[in-house]
Formats: sequence, structure tokens, C-alpha cells
Amino acid sequence: MKRSGIIAGVVGVLAGAVLSTSVQAAMSKEAIAERLKPVGDVCMQGQDCGGAAPAPAAGGGKSPEDLYGSVCSACHNTGAAGAPKKGDVAAWAPRISKGMDTLHNHALNGFNAMPAKGGNPTLSDDDVKAIVDYIVENSK
Ligand code: HEC
Repeated sequence: MKRSGIIAGVVGVLAGAVLSTSVQAAMSKEAIAERLKPVGDVCMQGQDCGGAAPAPAAGGGKSPEDLYGSVCSACHNTGAAGAPKKGDVAAWAPRISKGMDTLHNHALNGFNAMPAKGGNPTLSDDDVKAIVDYIVENSK
């Protein structure tokens, strides 16, 4: 008996809180919008948005080594799906002899079981090429 009374009391307090919050919200929507403005301002494309920095690209300043580790190593460290392993000179020699343009092209656009951009289309072309260079440098 005593217990349910406490629970009812708690529920009552909670309900009161919810009620007063919603009333408050209704009354001060403008004030809230005003407060959120500095962080929540929407900047439309083509607008001058006070020099807001553009969203960083996926590669965003990461080194080819880091990007290799997060995108390519799953296959190129293990040889999964028949991928030539980084550091496997014999596996890379015939590929390197095709020329860097071909290797860049195959990494960008895919080649047999090798997915385009390693399956991560958010990588920039330059990042992908830099990773290929990194793999090749460490595989001859
Ligand atoms: C899902 C597994 C997988 C991932 C992830 C992957 N690769 Fe590959 N990659 C392969 C396979 C398999 C081959 C061999 C394809 C063949 O020769 O038939 C290959 C081959 C290559 C080649 C040689 C192409 C040629 O012409 O001989 C390059 C360069 C390459 N990958 C770069 C990358 C880069 C850079 C990344 C990361 C951005 C990456 N790979 C991610 C599976 C993968």
C-alpha cells in the first residue's frame, strides 16, 4: 500500500514535469530557436555562409598509410579474394610492370575481384592513387 503510494507520487511528479516542460516549450519556441541559432544555422549551397569551412573529404588529411590500413588492408594484408599482399614482391612485380597508370586506373575503377576504390567511393581519386603508390613502394 505504502509502496504504490510512493510510485503514484513519483508518477505524479514526472507527469507534472512533462506537462510544465511542454508548456514551457510552447511558450518559448522563439527563445529556443534563438539560442540554437549559432550552432544550428542552416547554410544552403551557393549562399555566403560567413566563410564556413566546407565539409572535409573522406580522406580528410589522413596519410596513405592510414587509409590503406582502414580501407585496403582487409584484403591486401591477408590475400583475401586473391589480392596481392602488400610487401609480396613476387606478386607485385608483374603488376608494377603494367605501369602505374594501369594500377591507378584499376584501383580507381575496379579490376576483377578488386572493388573500385577498395569499395569506399568516398575516397578521393588522389587518395586512392596515393595509397597505390604507398603499396607499390612497399612491395618492391
Ligand atoms: C575486397 C578485397 C579488396 C579490397 C578491400 C582492396 N582490394 Fe585491391 N585487389 C583485390 C584483389 C582480389 C586484387 C587482384 C585482382 C586481380 O588481379 O584479378 C586486387 C588488386 C589490386 C591492385 C593491382 C591491380 C592490377 O592491375 O594488378 C591494386 C593497385 C589494388 N588492388 C589497390 C587497392 C587499393 C588502393 C585498395 C584500397 C583503397 C584496395 N586495393 C582494396 C582485392 C581488394
